[in-house]
Amino acid sequence: MIDIKVLENKDLLDVIAYENEYFNITNYEMFIETYVENPLFEIYGIYKYNILIGYIIIWLDEDKSQIYSMLINEKYRRNGYGFKALLKLENILSDKHIKEWTLEVRASNNAAIQLYKKVGFKSVAERKNYYKNNENALLMYKKL
Ligand SMILES: CC(C)(COP(=O)(O)OP(=O)(O)OC[C@H]1O[C@@H](n2cnc3c(N)ncnc32)[C@H](O)[C@@H]1OP(=O)(O)O)[C@@H](O)C(=O)NCCC(=O)NCCS
Repeated sequence: MIDIKVLENKDLLDVIAYENEYFNITNYEMFIETYVENPLFEIYGIYKYNILIGYIIIWLDEDKSQIYSMLINEKYRRNGYGFKALLKLENILSDKHIKEWTLEVRASNNAAIQLYKKVGFKSVAERKNYYKNNENALLMYKKL
């Protein structure tokens, strides 16, 4: 059983450490400025028995939302937690009258692409050389 809720302040440093380890986001000030101080972003923690096992960062604008980042701690992967967390987040977004959400994912990130497809996202476009290493991004979309 997992829970998803607005990230508790005590867990912020853990999220920044994950971002640092997996996505090379090394600048603490930039993270705070971009995601914490900007009211358009929300960070959700994914908790199992009150232990932070992952997170999802989203951007919200009127009736649209975009997933900016998502991660499940390696130890807890392949247990359906990422899938369940996205379904729970979908309910939260529906309550906020969000009508559609999107995301960009590395074309090589098969685990994430399969997860998003399982949740119902469709790949709608490919963005060439989108990432620093010139890798393409898939743009995925789901109507809520
Ligand atoms: C992508 C990620 C969030 C998946 O989380 P997870 O909790 O392990 O995913 P789930 O167990 O809920 O898996 C749901 C579905 O996703 C797909 N999936 C997940 N991991 C997979 C893998 N390693 N290989 C292939 N498919 C995978 C499967 O379709 C799976 O359904 P199934 O179990 O019925 O086969 C996790 O691997 C992760 O944190 N990766 C590193 C960070 C990352 O890439 N984030 C996404 C950036 S956009």
